[in-house]
Amino acid sequence: MINVVFVCLGNICRSPMAEAVLGNKIAGKNLQDRIKVDSAGTGDWHIGHPPHEGTRKILDEYQISYEGMVARQVTSKDFEQFDYVLCMDQANLGNLRKLPGGENAVIIPFMELLPDEVLREVPDPYFTGNFEEVYALINAGCDVLLDMIVKDKL
Ligand code: 4NP
Repeated sequence: MINVVFVCLGNICRSPMAEAVLGNKIAGKNLQDRIKVDSAGTGDWHIGHPPHEGTRKILDEYQISYEGMVARQVTSKDFEQFDYVLCMDQANLGNLRKLPGGENAVIIPFMELLPDEVLREVPDPYFTGNFEEVYALINAGCDVLLDMIVKDKL
């Protein structure tokens, strides 16, 4: 089993969107018994909360399920339990590096999946309000990531 976790700040906007989008692509390729996806936040404010209304709205639009998803806070155990740890921006990366074991962990900044994009971080729609922009980046990046996982590990 390959385990993937997306990490953002609150775990209600970007990382749950990525979890749902990648999960949907995995199901589309019938790989759900081989690849599992999760998400977490570096902050603790939204523990137990469902995805943000803006994330739910966009996932509904694209008919992607987020059923049962609730926010949790990342822990250093995640570095051991997940094969792929992806973060949405440089602040997330800095916060992950501060956790025990974080200094040497392999952490992929999400935008490294999209080297031709001008944006080098996934913007936080909690502040920008632009969930469509984030969806487009996440959708494109998850295609690249899934190809990468299939080629590397399956
Ligand atoms: P996310 O967005 O990191 O994409 O989930 C945020 C959600 C909540 C907060 C900040 C960012 N907050 O400050 O509560």
